[in-house]
Amino acid sequence: MKKILVCGAGGFIGGHLVNRLKADGHWVRGVDLKENEFGNANADEFILGDLRDPVVAKNAVKGMDEVYQLAADMGGAGYIFTGDHDADVMSNSALCNLNVLGAAQNEGVKKIFYSSSACMYPEYNQMDPDNPKCSEDSAYPAAPDSEYGWEKLFSERLYLSYHRNYGMEVRIARFHNIFGPQGTWTGGKEKAPAAMCRKAAEAENGTSIEVWGDGKQTRSFLFIDECIEAILRLMDSDFTGPVNIGSEEMISINDFANMAIAISGKTLTINNIKGPTGVRGRNSDNKLLLEKLNWAPSMPLLEGMKKTYEWINAQVKEKQMENLKAN
Ligand code: NAD
Ligand code: GDD
Repeated sequence: MKKILVCGAGGFIGGHLVNRLKADGHWVRGVDLKENEFGNANADEFILGDLRDPVVAKNAVKGMDEVYQLAADMGGAGYIFTGDHDADVMSNSALCNLNVLGAAQNEGVKKIFYSSSACMYPEYNQMDPDNPKCSEDSAYPAAPDSEYGWEKLFSERLYLSYHRNYGMEVRIARFHNIFGPQGTWTGGKEKAPAAMCRKAAEAENGTSIEVWGDGKQTRSFLFIDECIEAILRLMDSDFTGPVNIGSEEMISINDFANMAIAISGKTLTINNIKGPTGVRGRNSDNKLLLEKLNWAPSMPLLEGMKKTYEWINAQVKEKQMENLKAN
């Protein structure tokens, strides 16, 4: 049994990670600005605190064998590609990383995990929706298309420099759009999987749902359980990374929207509208993951989307009931 800190335990991936670590028999402390809104982070101890404050970071890492650093100011295309939140995204996330990593080093933490993102890959390799390049060795010359991606790249380098100069054991993953139940599904920070499920769940039969861009842009999406499995396997391996943690099942956004529509069982059409779209194409490249961990995710996208739709549909229904009662 290890003593483990999960930073960002109030969030989507952090909440799921806390529960998995608990199920595996570890003692877990969580820290976040907010409690987990879906109540799914059953940590042994939870610090409600701001990791931009070095004292909070110091107290959080104290006595821990391992740290998982998932705290970040982040969201989907509607949050990171508009440019409206760039200063907050960069400074808030960088401060969390500087404070947590510095404190972990000072307090003698043995190993630390850092959650980077596919958003750090250069835009010039992601212009062709049918043929994006996201192998780990294609990161440089750097040219991410968002400040969020630049901060991730800076922080990857920060963790790697602690590894080189202080011998800190670090593990770095580049997540490719992780989705599933208990993720942000409304409010502006939600990503495409949750947005498609919500829009299909809310729509009246025979109407249409709005999809940003021409819908020909491509992405891949990884179900949360496989993301958690990959994180733990990486942490247990002797590979520092960075390594992609994502799915190779690439799909166009209109086909993805149609998948959500089909799951809903409704007859809906797609209305492509102007919106923040990000890169034209993105797909995980899992060669290195397979080579280093001898494992790669395998769950079909449809299976993960069915589980996600079921959960979001229940949230939509609950909200509708609340609104009915309030009126
Ligand atoms: P999330 O927004 O659900 O969780 C992040 C958590 O960090 C939130 O609960 C937030 O309150 C917390 N946080 C932010 N600032 C903080 C601060 N100053 N002090 C304490 N807590 C703070 O996001 P997620 O989807 O769970 O993502 C987890 C990590 O994985 C993030 O670093 C994110 O950038 C990275 N990532 C996620 C995806 C994805 O598709 N979900 C893709 C690439 C990278
Ligand atoms: N969010 C959202 N909502 N996206 C939509 C919508 C909608 O209603 N309609 C169409 N899209 C399109 C976006 O325009 C974008 O082209 C694509 O769906 C995917 O959008 P997101 O899921 O929001 O983000 P992303 O894939 O561009 O980036 C996400 O993944 C990265 C890692 O791969 C973000 O979550 C990043 O924070 C993350 O690092």
